[in-house]
Amino acid sequence: MLLFLSITVLTFFHQVNTKLGFDSADAYTINTFRCMRGQGYDFFIARVYHSYGAPDPVGVQNIKNVKLAGWSLIDAYIFPCLKDTCPSGKQQVIDALNFTQQANVSFNTFWLDIERFAWPSNKTFNRQFISDMVQQAQAMGAKVGIYTLSTYWNEIVGLDFTTFSSLPLWWPQYDGVQNITDFKPFSGWNLPAIHQFSGGVQEDGCSITIDQDWYPD
Ligand SMILES: *[C@@H]1O[C@H](CO)[C@@H](O)[C@H](O)[C@H]1NC(C)=O
Ligand SMILES: *[C@@H]1O[C@H](CO)[C@@H](O)[C@H](O)[C@H]1NC(C)=O
Ligand SMILES: *[C@@H]1O[C@H](CO)[C@@H](O)[C@H](O)[C@H]1NC(C)=O
Ligand SMILES: *[C@@H]1O[C@H](CO)[C@@H](O)[C@H](O)[C@H]1NC(C)=O
Repeated sequence: MLLFLSITVLTFFHQVNTKLGFDSADAYTINTFRCMRGQGYDFFIARVYHSYGAPDPVGVQNIKNVKLAGWSLIDAYIFPCLKDTCPSGKQQVIDALNFTQQANVSFNTFWLDIERFAWPSNKTFNRQFISDMVQQAQAMGAKVGIYTLSTYWNEIVGLDFTTFSSLPLWWPQYDGVQNITDFKPFSGWNLPAIHQFSGGVQEDGCSITIDQDWYPD
């Protein structure tokens, strides 16, 4: 009986103390966020900078709309621009954060999206680029996190680059499960803060396509 009770209590806490969220670069209305709350979603991560090198007004409007829908768990991410012609990493962060500040929107964590994209093969350059972004964001008062997984991180900066392992990790692994059973520590990260567990999923209840995210509360 005691064992049964313990399991029940654990299961109860397991279910209560987690959060389901989503991220997407599409434009959403206040009503869409209200609908998503009805589907059990609690947090949203907005893209605020395009990989072609400009702030993203859609992401800023999404932050306004999600707040008006009554949500408070809101993060933002920058998808950095990596061509030779792009602004420096530092300048991209300035442009992204200045844009959100001027739009008077705030958010919790500012995530750097470090995924396989147009990154140069020069890992020294990439390490410096990421370090410049982190330092600038922190200098502007942002709470910084890193979005990556081990294969991306290995290709872009090398698995021995552990400088930012004290920052929260947003971990994309499309295994479809709302837990971190499949996570294996890498580059100093022992646990992810958020698990992005699906990509490009249709949320039928609200007719939108999203990436789904989860974290233990
Ligand atoms: C942000 O923009 C304002 C107005 O354009 C400017 O005065 C300020 O220096 C900018 N901040 C940074 C950190 O560049
Ligand atoms: C900025 O946002 C804050 C809090 O959300 C609000 O109190 C303030 O009036 C806004 N300022 C402007 C200029 O919109
Ligand atoms: C790699 O990038 C670093 C830092 O920008 C630079 O000093 C170095 O010359 C680059 N190496 C090559 C082979 O281009
Ligand atoms: C993770 O979730 C999957 C799917 O719901 C489940 O089969 C598995 O047992 C879970 N793992 C843990 C450790 O809870």
